[in-house]
Formats: sequence, structure tokens, C-alpha cells
Amino acid sequence: MIRCYENADLSSRNSFHIRQRAKRLAEFDNTDQLPELFERWGMVRWRVLGGGNNTLFTHDYDGLIVTPCGTGVEVTGEQPYSVTVRAEAGVEWDDLVQWCVDRELWGMENLSLIPGKVGAAPVQNIGAYGVEAGDVISSVEMYVPSSGNMLTLAAEHCAFGYRDSIFKNMLKDEVVITAVTFELSRIPSPKLGYGDLLRCTQSLGGPSLQNIREAVCSIRRSKLPDTAVTGNAGSFFKNPVVKESAAEELRTKWPDMPLYPCQEEGCVKLAAGWLIDKVGMKGYRSGNVGVHEKQALVLVNLGGATGVEVLELAREVQRRVKEGFGIEIETEVNIL
Ligand code: EPU
Repeated sequence: MIRCYENADLSSRNSFHIRQRAKRLAEFDNTDQLPELFERWGMVRWRVLGGGNNTLFTHDYDGLIVTPCGTGVEVTGEQPYSVTVRAEAGVEWDDLVQWCVDRELWGMENLSLIPGKVGAAPVQNIGAYGVEAGDVISSVEMYVPSSGNMLTLAAEHCAFGYRDSIFKNMLKDEVVITAVTFELSRIPSPKLGYGDLLRCTQSLGGPSLQNIREAVCSIRRSKLPDTAVTGNAGSFFKNPVVKESAAEELRTKWPDMPLYPCQEEGCVKLAAGWLIDKVGMKGYRSGNVGVHEKQALVLVNLGGATGVEVLELAREVQRRVKEGFGIEIETEVNIL
């Protein structure tokens, strides 16, 4: 079934709880319905909205918003050491993590409690605690409205990078992701190298899948605001990648500045949260918006904020970090 809404209120469809509207919004359950949906509603201006956990609306959307609602999860292949799992785009990401943990399938436990739907996971290659969705994705299925075709892209063609993929670049606003297939391991392979994860997992009794999941959930809950209570979109900025030489120079001035390895040759990743904290903006408030007091990477709607207010705060944060460190931090959230 396709469910269509005119002049749709988006406030319950974005985690910042911003009150904007879309001219048209259509929810679909089956991929077969997509050709009809695009024929009926026109293809002039459209975009996909999953759970709205990484989108900031700064104005009403004058086009069609398409929301995948299929929630099927199935095992599509069993190998001696691994299992292939296919999930439709409308599945809640954390439900899929729980589903895999319950079946003793390793690979996505570090990505527990990341808000959002499965269809959004490959787009920004969601990541946490040293693991990225791209590490476990084997292929992505999509509908291409301009040709009316379905397409399956193998992971090696998805150009996964740090919070990046082909879906944010070449295929941006060109495809509707309908399902994602993952390859998970039956062999225990705990990845506990990041921050407090090892200590927290040990305190729960050791590195079982369930304990790792619980540790990640409790660390996230202690730092990140609950979107049901406080509007936010997780990390608002990406961690900036700089040349090693530039990082060394910064380190001489700020010896306690955290540096992380990154895939790019000769480069390191800095912690945007640390930079924002150091320029004194952690816990900063301005009208209806603020910087979260426990994690400076997160901008929050303190109640009744507009998207423009959040955007203005983001610009102010970027300006101060640039002034303090000479570094440009990019937004991770999609701004519409
Ligand atoms: N830090 C501060 N002050 C702050 C925040 C952080 O000094 O207010 C310091 C921390 O002490 C730490 C460093 O900065 O030394 C890094 O902070 P943290 O460990 O909290 O992780 P992050 O790099 O800020 C990234 C992801 C998160 C993910 C965590 C854990 C990005 C943009 N963010 O944050 O992802 O949960 O690592 O793996 O890469 C998200 O994308 O929405 C998200 C929450």
C-alpha cells in the first residue's frame, strides 16, 4: 500500500522536532509500488526521508518526500563461518542490531543504539566505536526513478569512506534505497579498542555479544541526549581530517589534543567535539538552541526551535572553531 499525505507535518518525522511541512509525502511498503508512486506524484522534486535522524529542515519542502516502510528481515545465505542477512530500508537500525545479537551474529554490535533506519545506514556509512556499517554491508538495493529500474550495488562499488559513500555524491538524490544485505560472522570478533568500551564490557562480565551491545548502549545513553525528549541529530559535525604536519603543529600548542588514525594517507582525524569544547562552547545556549552539555558535537533543540536557529548556531560554532584553531569543521547533518 502507498500512503500519501498533502501538506504533511514533518515535526514527528525529524529528530530535531523542527516544525516544517512537505508539499507531499508518500510512504511505501513494497518496492513494486515505486514506479506507480513516482508516476502519480511526479518526479520534479523529490527526496527520501527515513527516520529523519540526520536531517535539519530549515524551510518547508516544496516537493515529494518518499519514506520506505518495509520492515522485513531475512537470512538469505548460510556459510560455515558467516551468515548473510537482508533487511528492508524501513527496519529500525537498532532492531536489526538486536536481531543479529540475539542470533549470535557478529559485526554490528558496536553500532548499537544508533538512531535511524536501515536505508540510511549506507548513505552516511554510520559508524561508532571503531566500526562502520560499510564493514558489514555486502550490497545495497535501490530503485532509480529516472530509468524505472531496480539496481543492486555491491559494497565495493559504494565508495564507503568516513561518513561518506556514493549515495552522498554521485547517486545523491538519484536513487531510493530499498534494502541492504549484510555479511555477519559466526566467529566471535570483539572490537573493544575504542575509549571506554573494553572497561565497560569487562565490568559487565566479559566480551559476549550481548555484553558489548549493552556496554555501547550505556556509553551512548550517558553522553547523547534522548531524541524523544530533546531534539537533536547526534553528531552535528564531522571530525575534521588534517595533514599530519598540521596536526603536529597543533599538538605543540595543545598537547592533550586527541588524534585518531584515518584511512587517508598522511592525514589524521581530530575530534570536533574536543575543539568545540576547547573554544568554550560546550553547554552554550542561545534562545531555543544549544550545544549539548555532555557532548559538544551535538546541537540541541531546547524547545520550539526553528531549523534556521539551529543552523545559525552551527555557523557560530564553525566560526569560533575556525577562529580558535584555524580549522574548518563540516556539518555531518543534511541541511534542507
Ligand atoms: N571530547 C571533548 N569534549 C566533548 C566531546 C568530545 O573533549 O564535548 C573529546 C573526547 O574526550 C574524546 C574525543 O573528543 O577524547 C572524541 O569524542 P568521542 O569519543 O565522544 O567521539 P567523537 O569522535 O566525538 C564519534 C562519532 C559518533 C560516535 C562516537 C563513538 C563522528 C562525527 N561522531 O564521535 O557518532 O558515536 O565517535 O564512536 O564521527 C553520530 O554520528 O551521530 C555519532 C554519535
